Amino acid sequence: MKPKHLVTLQDLDRGAILQLFRTTAELKQQRKAPSKPLAGKTLGLLFQKPSVRTRVSFEVGMGQLGGTSLYIGPVELQEGKREAPKDMARVLSRYLDGIVARTFRHSEVEEMARFSDIPVINGLSDTSHPCQGLADLFTVQEKKGRLQGVKIAYIGDGNNVCHSLMEGCALLGVHLSVATPKGYLPDPVVARWALQQAKKSGARIEFTLDPARSVRGATVVYTDVWTSMGQEQEKLRRQKAFKGFRVDSAMMKAAGREALFMHCLPAHRGEEVTDEVMDSKQSIVYDQAENRLHVQKAILLSLLKK
Ligand code: CP
Ligand code: NVA
Repeated sequence: MKPKHLVTLQDLDRGAILQLFRTTAELKQQRKAPSKPLAGKTLGLLFQKPSVRTRVSFEVGMGQLGGTSLYIGPVELQEGKREAPKDMARVLSRYLDGIVARTFRHSEVEEMARFSDIPVINGLSDTSHPCQGLADLFTVQEKKGRLQGVKIAYIGDGNNVCHSLMEGCALLGVHLSVATPKGYLPDPVVARWALQQAKKSGARIEFTLDPARSVRGATVVYTDVWTSMGQEQEKLRRQKAFKGFRVDSAMMKAAGREALFMHCLPAHRGEEVTDEVMDSKQSIVYDQAENRLHVQKAILLSLLKK
């Protein structure tokens, strides 16, 4: 299955993800090998929200593959209010070879993909972060040497990162236990899709309000910020609601000595995770961040190389 765009992980199937992982492993081994498969290609990075990892890893990755990239930021995009996503997609299709879009509304990435003649990659929307989900699962496979039999405990907000993890785990047959406070559960539409896929792949996807139950027997404990970009006005309410969901040493101990800690970053240290856990030997957050580069190079090759 070769998709034209990457809007969510629902655009991929198990075979396509495993193929991407094989290419990722090769690219990671070759590092900056002087082959230029994307020479002459230009990638546009349309970002309504701030970014460090996504922007830098796409720009550097595109350069390593021989192409160039250009950044169009929040000032030009004005939260998508300056022009309709479909107009932008049609115009940019005349200049560029690919688009990475980071938007508030997920529907804007969908609209761009629908009207674009060139591949559109979701670089994070309010409901999805597929590049992150791929890098996360590649990292788990790299660290553990397998995905089967792995249990990921996702502790925190049922947000964009959680949704992509749910989709990826469902496709690849990974056991995922999502623990959120009441009122912060993942989108039921995504949950339904993941549960349906899980029946085919053999994945176990569970939802609970009890983090202790999630982390029991977990291979990986994963968390993300309680307040995502665009939700800043809910910060105080969220801090109260997520009490008991901070990943600390006691929670990691409950998971077991072998458990790894993951976070998509940026982290709000002292909020969803303690310094002690972030800086512990169990933490693989920087390897995880590095893998964004390698996985996205594989995505770029699969979508942009003719
Ligand atoms: N994890 C992630 O997407 O980081 P940025 O927001 O810095 O791109
Ligand atoms: N859930 C976070 C992820 C940042 C990479 C956000 O949307 O802000």
